[in-house]
Amino acid sequence: MKIIFATNNAHKIAEVESVLGEGFSLSTPRECGITEDIPEEQPTLEGNASQKAHYIYDRTGRDCFADDTGLEVEALGGAPGVHSARYATDGHDFAANNRRLLKELHGVGNRRARFRTVISLIIDGEEHLFEGIVEGHIAQCESGGGGFGYDPLFIPEGFDRTFAEMSADEKNAISHRGRAVAKLVEFLHNRVK
Ligand code: IMP
Repeated sequence: MKIIFATNNAHKIAEVESVLGEGFSLSTPRECGITEDIPEEQPTLEGNASQKAHYIYDRTGRDCFADDTGLEVEALGGAPGVHSARYATDGHDFAANNRRLLKELHGVGNRRARFRTVISLIIDGEEHLFEGIVEGHIAQCESGGGGFGYDPLFIPEGFDRTFAEMSADEKNAISHRGRAVAKLVEFLHNRVK
């Protein structure tokens, strides 16, 4: 079964392909002739995942899925949320985003936060949404050199280390994206049975 994953991020493709297993192969938008940036202009993760999947489906007519992720901090009313990539600047400046987050939480006692991923799958013309959440809290300072984004600040519940201090396998086993992808994979495996 061939499915388009609406990302040109090779790391994400490899991660999902490794859990999909035999019988599935993923293509990128670029491989299908879509070279422009895929719009994500919606105010929610669900809206953005859905917009990206529909963008691909409308142009190819093929089964496809898209994901969107945000870090939701309780004391900040769910921010940065859908704006996680561009929290501090217009670009994807991870270091600046982390500095801003620490500044916003300076002196704040409640540091509860969660990562949330939403995947929109369009298969046989029908849309299905899958959600993955990992609860945790924001550390007082950055630790660890692994991962990306807010990983050096995020300590998942039940651990005393940040995501950036974990191996990729350890993080994937409990992460928001890992959990959303597991639901997608279960759905696809049941579908082709
Ligand atoms: P995307 O929807 O996967 O592109 O994620 C949007 C933004 O959320 C990224 O630019 C990162 O800032 C942040 N983010 C997403 N996933 C993770 C993660 O696993 N760890 C840390 N930050 C993440």
